[in-house]
Amino acid sequence: MSSITVSTLQQLKQRGEKFAALTAYDASFAQLIDEAGVEVLLVGDSLGMVVQGRESTIPVTVDEMVYHSSLVARAAKRALVVSDLPFMSYATTEQALTSAARLMKEGGARMVKLEGGALRLDTVRRLAENGVPVCAHLGLLPQSVHKLGGYKIQGREAAVAEQMVADARALQQAGADLLVLECVPRTLAGEITAALTIPVIGIGAGAATDGQVLVLYDMLGITPGKRPSFSHDFLAEAGSVRGAITAYASQVKAGTFPAAQHGFD
Ligand code: KIV
Repeated sequence: MSSITVSTLQQLKQRGEKFAALTAYDASFAQLIDEAGVEVLLVGDSLGMVVQGRESTIPVTVDEMVYHSSLVARAAKRALVVSDLPFMSYATTEQALTSAARLMKEGGARMVKLEGGALRLDTVRRLAENGVPVCAHLGLLPQSVHKLGGYKIQGREAAVAEQMVADARALQQAGADLLVLECVPRTLAGEITAALTIPVIGIGAGAATDGQVLVLYDMLGITPGKRPSFSHDFLAEAGSVRGAITAYASQVKAGTFPAAQHGFD
C-alpha cells in the first residue's frame, strides 16, 4: 500500500518542496520508478499511443485502464497511483462514478484523473463526496485533440488564460485534490499554482508548478517519432533506465528540471 497520499503532496506544497511524477503502465517500470523516490505514478491514457501504438488516447477503454492500473498498483510500495479516466468514460456523472469505482476497486488506483474545466464541476463534486480523490487536468486536453485541432499550447490568449484560472479555482472548490497543467505558458502556470492550495503538476508548463510529470517513454527517449520539446532524454545521459529515472526525480526535486528550454512563453 502506497505511503504517499494526498496529504503528503499537500504538505510538500506548503513547505515549497517540489515533487516528481512519471507515467507507468506495467509492474517492472512501476517498481523502478517507485524505488527512485518518484511520488506519483500516473497510469496515463497516453498508453494508447506509447504502449498500443495508436494515434491518440481516444480509443483507450476503461477495461484497458483497469488492467494497466492493476499492474502498476501491484508494484507500487510508496508512490501514489493515479489513473486516467479514459475518453467518454465520464461524460455523465453516473458514468464517472461507475468508471472511477472500477479503476479503484479492480485497478487499485488511489486517485482518478479527468480532463476539463467548468463542465466537470458537478462530476468532481460527486466523486469527491463519494470518497474518490480527483486529479483535474487543464490546458492541453489530449482527449479533446480533434476539437482543439491538434496538440497545441493552451492559454496564450488573455480570455483563455482567464478562463483557465477561473476553472482551476472552481475545480479546487468542487473538491479536486490535484491539478495537472499541460502545455501552458510558464507565467500562467505559475499564477495558477500560486492561486491554489491544492498541488499543481506541470508538463510543458515551466518550473513554477509544485510538481512535474513526464511520459516515461519520452524521458527515456524511446517514443517513436519526435520527442516533445518540453521533455528531455534522461537515458542518453544516465546510461541506464534506473539512472535516468533517478536523475529525473532528483532534478525535479532540485528545481533544475524543467530548464528554460522546456517551457513556453
Ligand atoms: O496520459 C498521460 O500520460 C497524461 C500526462 C501527459 C499528464 O495525462
